[in-house]
Amino acid sequence: MSKVTVIGAGNVGATCANAIAHMKICSELVLLDIKEGLSEGKAIDMMQTAKMYGFDTRIKGVTNDYAATRNSDVIIITSGIPRKPGMTREELIGVNAGIVNGVVGNALKYSPKAIFIIISNPMDTMTYLTLKATGLPKNRVIGMGGQLDSNRFCFYLSQALKAAPSDVEGIVIGGHGDTTMIPLISKATCKSMPVTKLLRKAVAEKVVADTMVGGATLTKLLGTSAWYAPGASCAAMVKSILLDEKKVFPCCCYLEGEYGQDDLCIGVPAVIGKRGCEKILKYDLNKEEQAAFAKSAAAVKNVNNVLYESKILTR
Ligand code: LAC
Repeated sequence: MSKVTVIGAGNVGATCANAIAHMKICSELVLLDIKEGLSEGKAIDMMQTAKMYGFDTRIKGVTNDYAATRNSDVIIITSGIPRKPGMTREELIGVNAGIVNGVVGNALKYSPKAIFIIISNPMDTMTYLTLKATGLPKNRVIGMGGQLDSNRFCFYLSQALKAAPSDVEGIVIGGHGDTTMIPLISKATCKSMPVTKLLRKAVAEKVVADTMVGGATLTKLLGTSAWYAPGASCAAMVKSILLDEKKVFPCCCYLEGEYGQDDLCIGVPAVIGKRGCEKILKYDLNKEEQAAFAKSAAAVKNVNNVLYESKILTR
C-alpha cells in the first residue's frame, strides 16, 4: 500500500521511477514535473511496460499538481538543473537551492509524514537545506550520493580486478563531490579478500581517482549528468525504506558528533529502514581517512555557508 513520489521527470527521476516500478515495492508512484506533458508521457510509457515486466504499480504523471502526491511515504527530489561538462556539482547551488526549497515545501504540505531523499546537486548542501528549511527530524531527510559513488567504486574495482561486479564490496563516504568523496580502498574486498592485497598500489590509486571523477567522466561523455546508476541507487534506498530492510547504505545524513563532525549532512554508512536513516554506523577509519573526512566536511560546510550568506537560510 505504499506510495512514492518522484519530483522531477528528467533522466534521473524517470529512471528512478522505472527502477522502483520494476522492484514491485509500492502500489502508487507519482511522477511530478513542471514541464507540461513530460511526466504524463513518461508515466504512460512506463505503464505500457507493466504487462511485460509484471508490475502492478500505478504510475501517474502530473504537472505541478502536488495534491496528487498526497500521503506519499517517500518523496524523491531530483529537481533542478543538472551539471554540464566542465561544471562542478557545487556550481549549481544558486539555481538549485531556490528550486529545491520550493519543491520540498510544496511536497511536505501534502505528505507531512514522508521521508525525503534528495538527489539534486550539490547534493550534500541540498540535503542540509531540506533538513534546515523544513525542521524535519534528521532521520527523515537523506541524500543519495554515497550509494551511487560506491556503485561506481565497485565498477572500477571489478574492472581492475577482472572480477564479477557482484563479488566486489566497497564504500565511499564523505561529500558527493569530485574532490570531497572518499572511496575507502582499505575496506574494499573481493569475495572477502582485501583488494589492497590483490591490486598493485598504482592500480588501486587509479581506481580511487577514477571513482572520484566518475560522475564528471559521464557528464563529459553524455553532455549532461548520468541517470541509470543514480536512478537505480536511489531505488535501492527506497526499497530498504518501504520494506524496512535495514540495509546499510553510504548516504548523506545529518551528523551530530559522529566522525568528529556536526551541523552538516555528509556521506556516512547508515542503516536505512522504515524510519529513514535509523542509525549511523561508525567505521574505524585510519589516520589518512580521518584527515580526508575532516577535509571533506570542511569543504561541504563551505558550500553550506552560501545558503546563509545568500539568506536562503538564517542561523
Ligand atoms: C552524478 C550526479 C547524479 O554523480 O550527481 O552522476
